[in-house]
Amino acid sequence: MALEIRPVRPAEHAAAGALVVAAYRALDGLPLDDGYAAELADVGRRAAQTEVLVAVDGGRLAGCVTFVADASSPWAEDLEPGEASIRMLAVDPAAQGRGVGRALLSACLARATVLGRAAVFLHSTPWMTAAHRLYRDAGFVRVPDRDWQPHPDVPLLAFRLPLAGTPGGGVAAEGSGER
Ligand SMILES: CC(C)(COP(=O)(O)OP(=O)(O)OC[C@H]1O[C@@H](n2cnc3c(N)ncnc32)[C@H](O)[C@@H]1OP(=O)(O)O)[C@@H](O)C(=O)NCCC(=O)NCCS
Repeated sequence: MALEIRPVRPAEHAAAGALVVAAYRALDGLPLDDGYAAELADVGRRAAQTEVLVAVDGGRLAGCVTFVADASSPWAEDLEPGEASIRMLAVDPAAQGRGVGRALLSACLARATVLGRAAVFLHSTPWMTAAHRLYRDAGFVRVPDRDWQPHPDVPLLAFRLPLAGTPGGGVAAEGSGER
């Protein structure tokens, strides 16, 4: 598969947002109200405030992820100094199981490494079992003391991957997102 990972372009914001919503809706059991669906769909807002990467396969959007550079970002959720984060990782349900999610995760880990971050931290819900395998395969470990429950129906499970902190590698910058 010829897969390209790059920053999202403005013309792709709506389609990328729809893809994220579709991937979350396909999760069995995840409560997804209209407010959260609208937040997931708003790729333009995320791209203006942080980094949003897409996976493009033969000209078609296949996946999308939001990269959070550090704790000062408006998209940082419970980050400690030196940590980057990954949010709203999603692959088109029709494109899942072919390495797209793994490629998006790798691109985010490369961004964190190039920025010299000490670790990548993220939250996930209990329904995201495919994502958990992906994270564990990449070396993430559970950190239950940083679990969080923003809503009674939605427990958030914390995962953390320590990095060597050595700059190198990464995704070329493109577009208007702040770094
Ligand atoms: C999580 C997600 C992004 C994975 O994307 P993907 O492109 O299907 O993943 P990949 O093909 O790169 O697979 C990577 C690994 O994920 C795991 N995985 C993928 N699909 C899986 C499935 N249906 N069941 C269990 N594990 C699965 C496997 O460990 C796989 O490794 P393997 O190929 O060596 O077995 C995708 O399932 C998705 O969009 N899920 C809904 C949104 C979500 O849960 N996001 C996480 C936010 S924290």
